[in-house]
Amino acid sequence: MKVAVAGKGGVGKTTVSAFLARCWRDLGYEVVAVDADPDANLAGTLGYRGPDITPLVKLKSLIEERVGGGEGWGGFLKMNPRVDDIPGEFGVVIDGVRVLVMGTIERGRRGCACPENILLREVLNHLILRSQEHVVVDMEAGVEHLGRGTAEGVDTMLVVVEPGWASLQTASRVAELARDLGIRQVRAIANKISGDADLAFVRENLAGPPLVGVLPLDRDLEPQARSGNVSRERPFYQEMLRIALDVAPAVLPPVCSCPDNPTGGKTAGATKEAL
Ligand SMILES: Nc1ncnc2c1ncn2[C@@H]1O[C@H](COP(=O)(O)OP(=O)(O)OP(=O)(O)O)[C@@H](O)[C@H]1O
Ligand SMILES: [Mg+2]
Repeated sequence: MKVAVAGKGGVGKTTVSAFLARCWRDLGYEVVAVDADPDANLAGTLGYRGPDITPLVKLKSLIEERVGGGEGWGGFLKMNPRVDDIPGEFGVVIDGVRVLVMGTIERGRRGCACPENILLREVLNHLILRSQEHVVVDMEAGVEHLGRGTAEGVDTMLVVVEPGWASLQTASRVAELARDLGIRQVRAIANKISGDADLAFVRENLAGPPLVGVLPLDRDLEPQARSGNVSRERPFYQEMLRIALDVAPAVLPPVCSCPDNPTGGKTAGATKEAL
């Protein structure tokens, strides 16, 4: 299952990505969470407190070894470098989730056939199109930098919205772009909902993607992220767990012998409730 998470700045993309990864992990899946936002904080949101993680884009010798180019990259560039070992080798395991930090392509070099672009594109391609793991990609606000070929491998784009005009407008633009790129399914998640009026506002004004989940405003999320201690009892986690199952309806959770199976033995089908 491959999911990309998008939406306006600050709506909760990284929070949703982190919880989706965590829920899948709790269900027993191997998960790779990709931080594709230049302002990377997915690892921190998952509770990482170690030394700074070097993003892939800064691994110059790896890029040169795999793609070629070198200083001034005047030389020959390999367009299909080997990348299948990169998530395993350079991903950092946080709370059971493998996190891969992509890093920022300099503004002037975005979209060009630079060695670092080739490597990032190929790693994302590999994860979306060929890897066996569940993959969640925390995107920048838009989806423009997903190439068409990669986008077609994304099973679901989750567009996060909050009760406010701007995020709803961004959501319909993002949903349209996602469909143009060939993403098969686009779903919205209403986040930071603190009452019926918030939810009614989102429902009335969300043009386009159907809602797949409603996440409460929860002031404990930040302290939980800071302490790395996530409560599985709270409604935020429980709703994310339901969403995690809902976006992967064809995939039933493995029969888990772990004592704290958070599904309580339910199957994906059993947890599908009408919103
Ligand atoms: N349901 C919620 N309740 C309370 N706070 C929330 C909720 N969802 C997210 N937040 C908080 O809102 C802030 C922004 O969330 P987050 O970083 O996930 O957004 P983002 O969309 O990834 O932002 P950016 O566009 O900067 O990458 C964070 O402080 C986060 O803890
Ligand atoms: Mg973010």
